[in-house]
Amino acid sequence: MALKKLVAGNWKMHGLSSDLGEVRAIAAAAQDYPNVDVVLCVPAILIERAARAVPGFAIGGQDVHSEEKGAHTGCTSALMLLDAGASLTIVGHSERREAQRESDDEVKAKVEAALSVGLGVILCVGESIEVRERGDAVAAVVAQLEGSLPDTLAGEAELAIAYEPIWAIGTGKIPTTGEIAEMHAAIRGKLKERYGSDGDAMRILYGGSVKPSNAGEIFSIADVDGALVGGASLKAADFIPIVAAAAAVEGADTIA
Ligand code: 13P
Repeated sequence: MALKKLVAGNWKMHGLSSDLGEVRAIAAAAQDYPNVDVVLCVPAILIERAARAVPGFAIGGQDVHSEEKGAHTGCTSALMLLDAGASLTIVGHSERREAQRESDDEVKAKVEAALSVGLGVILCVGESIEVRERGDAVAAVVAQLEGSLPDTLAGEAELAIAYEPIWAIGTGKIPTTGEIAEMHAAIRGKLKERYGSDGDAMRILYGGSVKPSNAGEIFSIADVDGALVGGASLKAADFIPIVAAAAAVEGADTIA
């Protein structure tokens, strides 16, 4: 089934008031591609200003706490993200799994907390270079996914998966077309096993060194339903050609 593509930008720890012009430029240009969903995941503190700057354009967060509220200094709840104007959030990015030592259990609790209040989720999974070189990438990613997926799909909020090989993030290296196809097929299989036909409707994004120059080929791979873009999402001049590449492959043949 061909799903509408989702191109998500992850600004990571980049973005000040002076960058809101870039948010406006991206939102304005994205209107030319109505067959692609576009979202910018900005630092939590910029969400409200970004959302106000571009009404109707989707703004997301980059993390969420698993509890509804309480004594968690410095953390942001799902309701706070919604209240600020976010429609979804990234959860389980490898930079947080590594630096903040987030476990699969913790990631799963965050996903459930977000979905339960109607905040969409882009759930990230991906293997290290050691695991890839050992030949265990598919098994490792499927196990990580199994441990991170919510028990039930509460409500209407979207759950999308992002496959981001850690060794491809910010390095300019990307897996082969065959490696991406193999991983996305395995992820699709797990989603169908867990959620039946709902698993067919979930978008699976690829992330890791997506650029205007490689986006078209990546989007033409079967079961690649979009991208999670880091560095190339910071400027409209880089990001919009990626959105255009997603628009161009809509309905085109896919590489199995
Ligand atoms: P880059 O596109 O900069 O490689 O980052 C990918 C990523 O981590 C997006 O979440």
